[in-house]
Amino acid sequence: MDQAQSLREYMQRFNVQEEKTHASRVITITSGKGGVGKSNFTLNFALGLQAAGKKVVILDLDLSTANINILMGITPRYSLVDVLYHKKYIWDVLEKGIKGIEYIAGGFEIQDLMKLDQQTLTFFWSQIQELQTYADYILLDTGAGISRELVDFILASDETILVTTPEPTSIADSYAVMKTVHQFTKEFPNFLLVVNRAHSYREAVETSRALKNACSSFLKIKLKTLGFLMEDTHVGKAVRSQTPFFISFPNCEASRSIKQIVYAYLPNRDENTIVKTKGIRGFFEKMLSFGKSS
Ligand SMILES: Nc1ncnc2c1ncn2[C@@H]1O[C@H](COP(=O)(O)OP(=O)(O)O)[C@@H](O)[C@H]1O
Ligand SMILES: [Mg+2]
Repeated sequence: MDQAQSLREYMQRFNVQEEKTHASRVITITSGKGGVGKSNFTLNFALGLQAAGKKVVILDLDLSTANINILMGITPRYSLVDVLYHKKYIWDVLEKGIKGIEYIAGGFEIQDLMKLDQQTLTFFWSQIQELQTYADYILLDTGAGISRELVDFILASDETILVTTPEPTSIADSYAVMKTVHQFTKEFPNFLLVVNRAHSYREAVETSRALKNACSSFLKIKLKTLGFLMEDTHVGKAVRSQTPFFISFPNCEASRSIKQIVYAYLPNRDENTIVKTKGIRGFFEKMLSFGKSS
């Protein structure tokens, strides 16, 4: 019996409803190359969604640079590894960060999930499910660069936000992400582009146009733009003071960009859309089925 199948049986046994009135929407945040501002975007976007009245949990799945906690000056006591191997509950590993934003450190490689025994997996699964009705949005910050695991993440998510900068290297690497995902799937997932560190509105528009054109000409994919974040010295200052810019400089250019992005994002995701999401349960179930098939 494969793990995805055993999960389905587990869900039936415990009468887990397929259709929920509320399911968290899982958004993977990714980029072609590192250092484009992905973690800063994730944290400040989360704070922006929270300011708009949404319940947000950040899941930090970037193993190489687990830095969202550093960006808000907290040191998590536990990670998902403690749920996997030390029988901690999800509520034990959920840390409250700045403004009460909730944060979970991943601390494991996604392939490790495939190696779990039935009992551990069942427990882990029951814990992950707690988040399903708890949060409106679960933001997954992932490592940079394209890998098989990242493609699995993207395909399992409800949406993916691709962060790029106007630098040609970043644009090229972002295109590489799109191209690689395209190779794995016929039904292309929901991608939204955020251009970060733009020096002008014009530069941001040109960056998004370059990527969109490449995606539509060579891959026949329509890439949607979610928004632009301007280059702003307050971002660096906020990083150094370990207080997110959305909190320490609420009226700076970057914070205003975050607000615009939140306002562009939310209206298209009414309750009806949320009911149709795969949610965090769907996310991990899909991840496990990928692991078995690869
Ligand atoms: N909009 C911006 N304006 C100015 N500097 C920025 C901006 N976004 C990111 N940075 C800088 O880039 C650095 C890397 O950001 P980070 O979020 O850690 O990137 P990633 O997670 O993609 O590796 C930050 O420390 C910050 O100084
Ligand atoms: Mg990062």
